[in-house]
Amino acid sequence: MKLWGGRFSKATDGLVDDFNSSISFDKRLYRQDIRGSIAHATMLGEQGIIPQADADAIVEGLKGILSDAEAGKIEWMVDAEDIHMNVETILTERIGEAGKRLHTGRSRNDQVALDTRMYARDTAAEAQGLLTELISALCDLAEKHTGTVMPGYTHLQKAQPITLAHHLMAYAEMFLRDRTRFRAAESSADVMPLGSGALAGTTYPLNRERVAELLGFSRISRNSLDAVSDRDFLLDWLQAASVTMTHLSRFSEELILWSSHEFRFVEMDDAFSTGSSIMPQKKNPDVAELIRGKTGRVYGDLMGLLTVMKGLPLAYDKDMQEDKEAFFDARDTLVKCLTVFTAMLQTLVFNTETMRRGAAGGFTNATDLADYLVKKGLPFRDAHRVVGELVAQCAAEDKALDELTLPEMQAVCPIFASDVYEAISLETCVSARDIPGGPAPQRVLDAIGAVRNVLQEEK
Ligand code: ARG
Repeated sequence: MKLWGGRFSKATDGLVDDFNSSISFDKRLYRQDIRGSIAHATMLGEQGIIPQADADAIVEGLKGILSDAEAGKIEWMVDAEDIHMNVETILTERIGEAGKRLHTGRSRNDQVALDTRMYARDTAAEAQGLLTELISALCDLAEKHTGTVMPGYTHLQKAQPITLAHHLMAYAEMFLRDRTRFRAAESSADVMPLGSGALAGTTYPLNRERVAELLGFSRISRNSLDAVSDRDFLLDWLQAASVTMTHLSRFSEELILWSSHEFRFVEMDDAFSTGSSIMPQKKNPDVAELIRGKTGRVYGDLMGLLTVMKGLPLAYDKDMQEDKEAFFDARDTLVKCLTVFTAMLQTLVFNTETMRRGAAGGFTNATDLADYLVKKGLPFRDAHRVVGELVAQCAAEDKALDELTLPEMQAVCPIFASDVYEAISLETCVSARDIPGGPAPQRVLDAIGAVRNVLQEEK
């Protein structure tokens, strides 16, 4: 018979057992569920709500179930519906009568909220750890490339010279913000809901603060209806994961582009590439493409849960059981993507000569040429027009700006002097952008140092 079977005169239809049951996926909450029950039972004993001997027996029994589950020795039962009733059923089978006292002053509604919050808290910390590794790897790589000149783009058209270090550190900044978002998600999960009961609290003198303390929560929920029906903390988690995936996907897209024959900025390691079953020459960036593709799945998980929640009347509704597969899928996807991306990143070989050649073409020093005239007194709008004319001339003759002779430049504007060539060299273009946040090598080193400090200080 079901734990709740008292008022029923028929057994549950097999179809319903199968449809209703969540054990196939919520079994992954067994640690959180058992830890939560140990804290609850400990508090029930301390408060004298159940006999101390029963509380002790429950705690011992639960510890035994936990170690058996860790060893893979527990067979979860579909007809016991979910992880909560599975654990309680097994407990009572093992320790007898005392097990039946565990659920005093508790509902599965506050229990599942607790378990999910604990899992969200743990996995938000896990995500922050993986992001920290990725950001450190980016800092290490950037440190080696503060002098590697490459073209910076807007509209995917060559724009101005930058360095590879500066480009890599742009991603470090994105992932640092993601880490902050996961820290916020961890904090929004950090509210202890037990004591909310099914929806309206409980008549037992539970010590909620004590349970929070035993489980390492820093605060308890303030409204029992909200506590059992709130899944904002999962939405926060999924939002953090979605934005992180956006960043991984943009980076992947660039690596796919950069590894193409057209760019040849980067060579992917054989161990992180795949071949074609028909075209012998192929070496495909499948890992980066899959990360870009899996981004869609994580967005889907977020949209799925938003849609589940949007029409739910207070308080708990069974619809909310649908939160878990989306959340678990997003967590698994994110962990896999972050792990493989960091590993792949560390094996990339950058073709620094090709990058430099790329920066030398496409008139990336045109702004600097205009700035040169401005520093000699010409208004910027006039300088812009002068350089525009020179660019048109070079484009027609298929040459670079620094290939124009001085008389050719002076024919358009007499201000030009022989120091112009130095002023528009790639090195000057980069090193002259010596402003906080800019690509000059020392500024990028400063940024790397600052990012490393944040990683150190906000562990
Ligand atoms: N398996 C359920 C869930 O994931 C647990 C809570 C069930 N509560 C209920 N009143 N049916 O949401």
